[in-house]
This record gives sequence, structure tokens and C-alpha cells, in this order.
Amino acid sequence: MELVKALLMWLACATAFAQDTDVPFVVTPDNVTREMLKLAGVKASDFVLDLGSGDGRIVIVAAKQFGARGLGVEIVPELVEKSRDNAKKAGVAERAEFRVQDLFATDLSQATVITMYLLPEVNLQLKPRLQKLKPGTRIVSHDWDMGDWKPDRTVTVEAPDKPIGREKVSKLHLWVVK
Ligand SMILES: C[S@@+](CC[C@H](N)C(=O)[O-])C[C@H]1O[C@@H](n2cnc3c(N)ncnc32)[C@H](O)[C@@H]1O
Repeated sequence: MELVKALLMWLACATAFAQDTDVPFVVTPDNVTREMLKLAGVKASDFVLDLGSGDGRIVIVAAKQFGARGLGVEIVPELVEKSRDNAKKAGVAERAEFRVQDLFATDLSQATVITMYLLPEVNLQLKPRLQKLKPGTRIVSHDWDMGDWKPDRTVTVEAPDKPIGREKVSKLHLWVVK
């Protein structure tokens, strides 16, 4: 099992390298997106920041189903275009913004909730900045943890539509900044 995980990691890194990004584009399935936002306790007063926002689904669901506002930052311009289109189609373009922006150059302080579906080493690079955010800020990471910064909660959810892996489950980790 560890060998399979290592091979998947290697494949993900090789794909990201080929795309000139830090993480390849892999979607979070819709049911997992909802569980991430529920785990963070997202409500209308929240500002959700998705780091590496792909096709925009996390911020769009946060706006449409949880009434929140949000921003997705994404390095691939075509994905940002697609996210803006998706937000318009979902009727939430006013509350769901998308920018072509490097997540490492993004101001994290505006967020009350940060969502991430990245890679373990990217999470570890972000960890020192995340730990300095305002107390009460919630961070949810799909699948990957942050090493010795133990999550406040971890849940496992069925993910039949997950495009990678054979197990079709996702682990979701929640940290609340102290
Ligand atoms: C695994 S996908 C997750 C997409 C979306 N958050 C979701 O959960 O469906 C990671 C995304 O991060 C983007 N990405 C990779 N490196 C980035 C960087 N340095 N800054 C911003 N986005 C980046 C990739 O292009 C990809 O769309």
C-alpha cells in the first residue's frame, strides 16, 4: 500500500512538473466538496479561499449552497476562465471571485476558511503561514495532512467519483488556528 501511495505521489509530481504547476489539476468530487465545507462549518458570514482552485467548484458550492463569499486562486488561466463561466452559470459570480495567481503569493489573511487539495510537500511549505493566521481560521485539506501539525479532526468519506486512486475514499483534515 505504501508503495502504491509513493507511486501515485511520483506520478502526481511528474504530471505537475509537465504542466509547470506545483500540483496537477484533479477535481474534488461534488459530495466531497460539500463534506469539506460542512467540516469547516461554512456559513454565510464566511470568506472561503481555495488555494489552487481548479474549475472553481469549491468556491462556487460555498457561495451557492452555503451562502458564503469566496476567492479561488489558480495558476492556469484557462481554469480561471472556466471557473468564472461556471460561477456565472451557477448565478454566484457576485460572491465567487477567481484570479490567475500563484497560491504562494496570495494574501491568506482575508480568509475565515481555507480549502486545499494540493500535495503533502506543498501543504508543508504553507504550514508556517497557515499557523500564523487569525485564531479561529479553519483550514480543510483534502487527503493530505501537515506532518507534525496534527488536525483537530479527520474524517473519511466515500468518493465514488474520485478520478484518482483505487480506494474511492477521501480523507478530510480540519485545523482550527489557535
Ligand atoms: C488537485 S487540483 C484541486 C482543484 C480544486 N481545488 C478542487 O479541489 O477541485 C490543484 C490545483 O492547483 C493548481 N495549482 C498548482 N500550483 C499552483 C500554484 N502555485 N498557484 C495556484 N494554483 C496552483 C493546479 O493548476 C490545480 O488546478
